This record gives sequence, C-alpha cells and structure tokens, in this order.
Amino acid sequence: MAVFTPQNFMDSEKGLLHTSQAEIQKFLDEQKQGMSLAAKVPLPKAVNAPVGANVINMAAKVANQTMVANQTMAAKDLSFMGWYNSHASGRGIWKWSNALDAYDRHFAGLSGYEVNMAEVGVQSGGSILMWEAVIGKKCHVYGLDINPACTKFSNTQTTIAIGDQAEPAMWKHLFDNVVNKGELDILVDDGGHEPHQMLTTLAEVFYRLTPGGFIALEDIHGQHYVPSFFTPAANYLGYMAEKGDVESIHVYPYLLVVRKSGENKRFPGTPVQFASDSTVVPDFEKLWEAMKKNYGGAVVLKNEDWGPFLTAQGLTNFFAHFADLHAYDYYATPTGCEHTAAAVCCNTINNSPTQTLIKGIHIFNDRMVAEVNAMPPVIKADRKGTEWISYSGEFIQSGGMI
Ligand SMILES: C[S@@+](CC[C@H](N)C(=O)[O-])C[C@H]1O[C@@H](n2cnc3c(N)ncnc32)[C@H](O)[C@@H]1O
Repeated sequence: MAVFTPQNFMDSEKGLLHTSQAEIQKFLDEQKQGMSLAAKVPLPKAVNAPVGANVINMAAKVANQTMVANQTMAAKDLSFMGWYNSHASGRGIWKWSNALDAYDRHFAGLSGYEVNMAEVGVQSGGSILMWEAVIGKKCHVYGLDINPACTKFSNTQTTIAIGDQAEPAMWKHLFDNVVNKGELDILVDDGGHEPHQMLTTLAEVFYRLTPGGFIALEDIHGQHYVPSFFTPAANYLGYMAEKGDVESIHVYPYLLVVRKSGENKRFPGTPVQFASDSTVVPDFEKLWEAMKKNYGGAVVLKNEDWGPFLTAQGLTNFFAHFADLHAYDYYATPTGCEHTAAAVCCNTINNSPTQTLIKGIHIFNDRMVAEVNAMPPVIKADRKGTEWISYSGEFIQSGGMI
C-alpha cells in the first residue's frame, strides 16, 4: 500500500491515483461485511412508552452521557447547538446537527481560551459568528474562501484570506504570512468538498497544526468517499500516527475529526468522555452483537493481537467497515428549498441501519469505541439566517437563489 508524506502526497494531483483496484475491492468487501453485520442487529426504536427494566437502564445511560457532556460544557455559557438554534436572522449559516453536536464535544471545552481557528468556506459569514460567540473573544478566526465577496467579513477578530484550498502554495502562504506566528489550533473544512480538495487540505494543514490541535472535515456525503477520500486519508494519517502525531480519530456521519498528539500551550486537553460501563469485545462480530445490549452506551473493541489501530491498514479497515455512516439519503422541507435561499429550509436524513445504530466511532491506538444511539437520531441541516452570499459572490436577502 502506498505511504504518504505531505511531500510525496502532493506530487500526485489527486489522492485517488493512489487507490488501486485491489484496494477498492478490499474496501467494498469490508463495507459489505460491516453492512451485513449491521443488518443482523435489531435497531433501537423511537421510544413512546417505556417498557420494563431495559428501558430504565437505557434512560440511566442516556442521563449519564448527558451529565458527562454537561460537565465538559460546564465552564461556558453557550453551546454550538444552542447558538445555532437561536440564530434567527442576519448572516447565513447551514450546518448538520450532528456536526454541531460533535463540535460541542470536541471544541466547547476550549471556550474562553486563546484559540486560533480557521474555516475553509465561509460563504455567508454566519459560521464565523458562531465560532467567535461560543469559543469567545480570545478566538481569532481565519476564514479562507475562493470567493472574494467574503473579504467583507474581515474585522479585528476575523482575518479573511482568498484562495483555493486545493493549492499547496496557498497553504504555505497562509501559515507563513497570515496566521499569527503560524500557530493554528483548529481547522474546519467546509469548502468545496471534493476528495482532492479535502486531501490537499488534510495533508497541508495537519502536520502544521499546534500540538493538541484539531482538523475537522465536513459534508462527506456518500459511501463513495471511502475509496476516494478516506482510503488515501488513512494512508496519510497512518504515516502521521507512526511518527506519534495522531492522538485520536473520530468518525461521525459526514464528518471526520482528527486530534493531533501533544499538549497545547494555550488550552487544556479535553479528552472525549464515554459511558463508564462500556462493554469490551475482541472483534467486529462481537462488537455488533454487543450493540443491541448497549443502546445509549458505548462498546469498546480491543484486541492486542491486532497491533496498533492507528496504522494505514487499520484505519483503511475501520473507515470501510463503517462506510454506511456516510449513506446520504435526504429529503428537503419544503421540497426543493435546498436550491433556493429561502430562510426556512431543512434537509433531513433517512437513516441507514448503521446511522440508526451508531452515533460515531472513535479510534485510538489501543482501542476503538463505537457509540450506540439510544434511539434513532434525527440528523438534519436546518438553514439559519437571512443574508446569503451566492457562490458567484452576489449578495442575497432571503428569498433568492443561492
Ligand atoms: C458550504 S459553503 C460554506 C458554508 C459555511 N461554512 C456555513 O457553515 O454556513 C462552501 C464555501 O466554500 C467555498 N469554496 C468552494 N470551493 C473552494 C475552494 N476550492 N477553496 C476555498 N473555498 C472554496 C465557497 O465559495 C463557499 O463559500
């Protein structure tokens, strides 16, 4: 299997070139295996009337998880989800609910600290307002967009850079000349979402992040991203992990979050918390079996004979096995609104069995944790705000076409 360094990775114009037919076949086999094991597990159901001890047990687990989440967020006033849901007018923002959930989990603990964060793709500017409101006044946002109309969002707390995320030279310029001392703690990629753009961004940004920093890649819609994006990403991240640079990898529907190893000098480590009574299993078959007894909890996969999990091969297998987390079957309400700038517009996912069952997987060097939903999740992207910049740069008040 090809191994990537940031240098040789950039020599290929597209990460896809490194995915051989044999690797694609292996991915398809692994995905099939994951799907067939998922199909055997009875799915959690929306609970109307509690029945018996199992439900009480499940409710206790959910309460426990909520408590853990609240402890992480105790020091701050706002959550990403809370800010988003109350953003009724002004600069537009459109994000998936489960991504906001993940940001509350990974980033809310950084609230109040000095954080340098960047977002690729700022479009209408609403997301900049969210990062700055929730992380706080000491958060400086670097917004990168290919659209020059976005420069209007520059101010003392926000720097806008115009460029193409698929250009390695643009990243060098950004780190050398734009980001304060080149110290970037978080990068969120909500730009063009093409595999080669995301791969270039990952390879150009991750190794330059500060210790304990994060990269999050959004809107990875569809299982086809596993061979085109996740497999080359596994090679790159496996290489970085071998050097000791990867702390953990978190896969949620349509979202990949990677945390870099090491202690950040400006903010504390905020390890992700799981239910304390998680079941431990030695293989995939037992992992799926254990899920039906752990709705609302977590199942830990641990097997010392498998060696470290954060390797190119290990990551390739995990990404393929859980490919159906990225199944993309949605409906828009009202119908067709996703192609307009209507203020009221919501895309909602028809969950695949894997999305119904699993909230996310978390890969560490010595274990993988699968978080099991207590009940089927509602994964939705509810458009917020009233002012939009179109892809062509034109300003739109709510009602026109994006
Ligand atoms: C989905 S929108 C971003 C939405 C915003 N982050 C939010 O949360 O509401 C995508 C943005 O990515 C920008 N974009 C597309 N391709 C890009 C590229 N190659 N480099 C940089 N930005 C890009 C577009 O101009 C657009 O503003």
